[in-house]
Order: sequence, then structure tokens, then C-alpha cells
Amino acid sequence: MSFEEKIDKARLPRHVAIIMDGNGRWALKQGKNRTFGHQNGVEAVRQTSEAAAELGIKYLTLYAFSTENWNRPKYEIDALMKLLVKTIDQETPTLNKNKISLSAIGNLKSLPEESYNRLMKAIEDTSGNDRMTLNLALSYSARWEITEAMKQISKEVKEGKTDPENIDQDLICKHLSTRNMPDPELLIRTSGEYRISNYLLWQIAYTELYFTKVLWPDFRKEDLYKAIVDYQCRERRFGKISEQLNKC
Ligand code: FPP
Repeated sequence: MSFEEKIDKARLPRHVAIIMDGNGRWALKQGKNRTFGHQNGVEAVRQTSEAAAELGIKYLTLYAFSTENWNRPKYEIDALMKLLVKTIDQETPTLNKNKISLSAIGNLKSLPEESYNRLMKAIEDTSGNDRMTLNLALSYSARWEITEAMKQISKEVKEGKTDPENIDQDLICKHLSTRNMPDPELLIRTSGEYRISNYLLWQIAYTELYFTKVLWPDFRKEDLYKAIVDYQCRERRFGKISEQLNKC
């Protein structure tokens, strides 16, 4: 039985988040520069998005560029931005064909103007699609996101629009960039690193974490299926005890 056949379609995670890691190491192993790794990572993005949509996953969030990635060498940042724009342009028709809408979270205004404009256009051009949302975390970090939410809430308190007594988890969620989506049930990190790297820190409070040694450019549909089967074998207790759960 393949991993795909083992998946219980009735218990799919609605939202899967991925830390795509290992592009640089994948390239260096072949004596190529890091950019080559990012270029080959695009096929993994394509395959993963297609597999997720085919399965019926509603939200897929990919960590494409972190706030900390701005500290990389300029040539790598430039190459990543170019690749991003090129990929978005090339893939928009496929996204439409597959009824996938594109969205993005992060400090998008810090992207180069050209990248920002093309990203916004692709988001607009795919906005009518409702099969799955492909959400790119770009110039994103969770601490940045939480800080922005705090600033916004403080402003609303100052203007008298929010009573501090009414600040609760729900209100904080409504001020995060993921306000329109459920929290991820599954977070995958590739490349054998066991870190969260400032990704969706608020949203992953109860998320199942899955780490694989596969480097991102080698990640294929089968690897996503494997992660979902692993997730479905886990017991999610949310603070309860085993006997209180409806067992499958
Ligand atoms: C991490 O690998 C990967 C990134 C920082 C960029 C991910 C970008 C892509 C896959 C390209 C295109 C993406 C989209 C959404 C169109 P790393 O460079 O940190 O690898 P290393 O840990 O081996 O150095």
C-alpha cells in the first residue's frame, strides 16, 4: 500500500505549514552555488502544492523568505527575489487551472518594488479560486508579526476602540496575518534541522511537528503523503487524557 493510499481523506489537516530547508546544502553537495538549490526548490514547491490541492488540503503555507534571510549575501537575496517573481509569473496560469489562490504574509512592503507589485498582481489574478490557498511567508518572522499585532491593538486601545479588558486570544488572532485561516495542524521541516526558526510561533501552539532529513529540492508528493500518514497516526489530546478522545 502506498503512502497516498494510507491517507484517511476524512481526517486531513486543513492547514499544512512547511519550512522549506536545505536548498543550499543540496546545491553544495553537487558542487554548485546556493542559487542552483533555490532554482531546484521550485519543482518541490510545484509538486507539494499540486499534491496538497489534489488531496483536499485547504491551506498550504510555505516559508519562502524570512526576516533573517535579508542578512544573506546580496547575490543570493537578488537571485531569490528574481526567482520568486519569475516563478509567480510562470505559475499563475497553473494556479488558476487548479483553482488555487495565492496569498502572502510578512512585511511585504519591504520586498523590492517590482517583486511586491508582481506578487500583488498574482494574488489579485488568483483571488477567485477556492480549492486551496497557497500562502507564501515572505520577509516574514513570527516575532515581527506578533509585534505588529501588539502595535495595532495598542493603537486601538489608545483611540478608545478596544477596552484592554477585552483583549483575549481571539482578538490577538484577529490581528495576526493569518487571521483568515485556521491554525496549521501539521508543520513540516525538511533537511534534518530541528528548529522552528521564528515561524508561526503563535499559530503552532497545538500543531504536530514533522521533521524529515529530505532536502527541500528532493521533496516530492510521496514525502508529503508520508508526513500526513505520520500525522494521522498521532493522538492529538489538546490537554485531555487519552480515554476522553474519540478514537478512530
Ligand atoms: C532554505 O534553504 C530555503 C530558502 C531560504 C528559500 C526557499 C525558496 C525556494 C524554494 C524558491 C522558490 C519559492 C517559491 C515559493 C516560488 P537554505 O538556503 O537555508 O538551505 P541550507 O540550510 O542548506 O543552506
